[in-house]
Amino acid sequence: MLYSQKVLDHFANPRNVGEIADADGIGEIGNAKCGDIMKMYIKVSGDVITDVKFKTFGCGAAIATSSMATEIIKGQKIEDALKLTNKAVVEALDGLPPAKIHCSVLAEQAIKAAISDYYTKQGIDPTSIVGEIPDCCEDCH
Ligand code: FES
Repeated sequence: MLYSQKVLDHFANPRNVGEIADADGIGEIGNAKCGDIMKMYIKVSGDVITDVKFKTFGCGAAIATSSMATEIIKGQKIEDALKLTNKAVVEALDGLPPAKIHCSVLAEQAIKAAISDYYTKQGIDPTSIVGEIPDCCEDCH
């Protein structure tokens, strides 16, 4: 089987799809490798991400990884959400075929971009907190 049961489940029933009308941060990222697009919305209270939703013009693997990533960071502190790597999301899904690993980077990048946007809207320079948003993952090279 090419895809794990968890990947198939999150692809067939993605969690947290949609948008948040009064989002505190919005991140939009394109995947350099395939041209797919991911948009992530977060709601923040104090330093906790209380809600998160995503929309994507992406493949099944992008949908499944974003669904899992949003489940992981919902309710987390911003500092913990920033530590979420695409590798950890892929592991939580019991793996992805190597050719699809780059798809999982969209979710990680979009979360970081949404947090960046949140800080910018608060009048805080996000670069020292969020750091560089990676173009792609090491597996893509
Ligand atoms: Fe573009 Fe998967 S092929 S995100």
